[in-house]
Amino acid sequence: MNAATTAAHAPIRDGARARRLLVGLTGGIGSGKSTVAAQFAARGAAVVDTDEIAHQLTAPGGAAIAAIRAEFGDAVIRADGALDRDAMRERAFGDPSVRRRLEAILHPMIRAESQRRLAAAQGPYAMLVVPLLVESGDRAGGVDRVLVIDCPVDVQIERVMRRSGLTRARVESILAAQATRAQRLAAADDVIDNSGEPAALGVQVDALHRRYAGDA
Ligand SMILES: Nc1ncnc2c1ncn2[C@@H]1O[C@H](COP(=O)(O)OP(=O)(O)O)[C@@H](O)[C@H]1O
Ligand SMILES: [Mg+2]
Repeated sequence: MNAATTAAHAPIRDGARARRLLVGLTGGIGSGKSTVAAQFAARGAAVVDTDEIAHQLTAPGGAAIAAIRAEFGDAVIRADGALDRDAMRERAFGDPSVRRRLEAILHPMIRAESQRRLAAAQGPYAMLVVPLLVESGDRAGGVDRVLVIDCPVDVQIERVMRRSGLTRARVESILAAQATRAQRLAAADDVIDNSGEPAALGVQVDALHRRYAGDA
């Protein structure tokens, strides 16, 4: 059996697997990705969050700042040395190439740092949190399974408004730029329903953790 066949069709745990299972965790903004990822981490999974890496790369002193400054100038760097996201968004508005140029700087750095952290992290399986996994269309560079955190769009909007203080219109515009709930569910191998109370997550996380770790 070749590697590609193994990844796509083998049981979750396979004695022939050459490396740890890599689960890609995704979901829309506010769906509960960070909340759920923390629960897998608490159970011993090797969890790496690409959003956290992106933030660190673009924080004051971050490894991507020099390249971003060279590409876009001082106007997109705040006084404290961090990427000015609002200024960047302004630039991207009306010039579609801006986002691509920013991604050309960030994505290879995020990929390299993700690989480094995954290799260093202990755990029976690994989990990579990738907010735009479905949108990227390439299964985020080779995850074995896609786990989608799902909740209704209305619930998503309420949670993001409560967390961030953004207006409903602003949250809706962010959602409009992401995959739809149906597109995400169509790409899912596994789904966690986060439409209810946080307490409803534990039993779902337990069941998937056992499967991913190969105990059930
Ligand atoms: N089941 C839930 N019930 C109520 N609030 C929740 C629930 N799950 C997550 N939250 C809250 O909603 C917000 C978004 O969750 P988060 O895990 O940060 O989502 P994401 O990482 O997908 O953007 C956070 O403030 C979180 O504490
Ligand atoms: Mg998050």
